[in-house]
Amino acid sequence: MTVKLFSPYTIKGVTFKNRIVMSPMCMYSSHNEDGHLQNWHRTHYVSRAVGQVGLIIVEATAVTPQGRISPQDLGIWSDEHINGFQELVGLVKEHGTKIGIQLGHAGRKAELTEEIIAPSAIAFNESAKTPKEMTKADIKETIEAFQQGAERAKKAGFDVIEIHGAHGYLLNQFLSPLSNKRSDEYGGTAQNRYRILREVIDAVKTVWDGPLFVRISAHDYHEGGLTPEDYIVVANWMKEQGVDLIDVSSGAVIPARINVYPGYQVPFSDKIKHGAEIATGAVGLITSPIQAEEILQNNRADLIFLARELLRDPYWPRTAAKELGATIEAPKQYGRGWV
Ligand SMILES: Cc1cc2nc3c(=O)[nH]c(=O)nc-3n(C[C@H](O)[C@H](O)[C@H](O)COP(=O)(O)O)c2cc1C
Repeated sequence: MTVKLFSPYTIKGVTFKNRIVMSPMCMYSSHNEDGHLQNWHRTHYVSRAVGQVGLIIVEATAVTPQGRISPQDLGIWSDEHINGFQELVGLVKEHGTKIGIQLGHAGRKAELTEEIIAPSAIAFNESAKTPKEMTKADIKETIEAFQQGAERAKKAGFDVIEIHGAHGYLLNQFLSPLSNKRSDEYGGTAQNRYRILREVIDAVKTVWDGPLFVRISAHDYHEGGLTPEDYIVVANWMKEQGVDLIDVSSGAVIPARINVYPGYQVPFSDKIKHGAEIATGAVGLITSPIQAEEILQNNRADLIFLARELLRDPYWPRTAAKELGATIEAPKQYGRGWV
């Protein structure tokens, strides 16, 4: 058996040495509310590159200060952010690992003292602030901010851009009828609720011709909310626009109880991959090498995104290679201790 987890994967001429992706994880570690990269980020991401992860996706990075989840989020709203990312990209690439960045806007889920914005003036829950309903000008500015973020990511040398359309953040708030009650062309029908994401993708593509991923929440887990079937339609639209891979997560657009178990989101990835014939990433409680290999061999996803397991074990690729009987290259400095 060829171990698929350790087979390379190429998108638009960019080759990941294996199918293991470090899922974006907010570190809330910027200082002084400036969105800048700190030593923590260098240590954190480079450790996983030394551990031989194929692709690292840097945490949700705010395209505007108002779009931060917290004041400590990373940001890419200014040209001054480029240098820090450029350095990180260089450090990660030294280890043969590719690196992407997740561009995000928190919308009504921003926990900031300033005014926050969303498609409709509805708070996420009782303890959250009520956002201001976005005007057309706000929407236009936000689309431009994603475009500028992508341009800066390109200047920094990233290999992949992922647009954050999941977990109840701004773009997800537009997609779901539970959080989008607009009566203009950005609300109402599925096409209209998709409009801002369509425009963000188009805007990003004017400055970015590399691999483009979009993370979605494939299930709202609530009556009247979106389901994986709805997302097959959305995935088809994204495919037509030239999105390369859908990173399939779920939930968090409204508070809902979710039955979480190993691989609980994998069926959504499977459905969207085959329903829209597009590459997907599977994520969510994937912890064991055999589980990851099963998902790939049964063609339920093209890439395996790991979050918490990579926090526990930055050298998880080595652990997995041992268990699956594959060989992976060791950093040359570690050769004597790698097997
Ligand atoms: C500390 C932490 C921070 C996270 N931050 C983000 C984020 O910035 N963007 C995102 O899309 N998901 C984020 N997530 C979700 C993970 O990427 C992943 O989808 C989720 O943890 C399920 O995968 P796991 O079971 O392998 O941890 C975060 C998760 C954790 C644990």
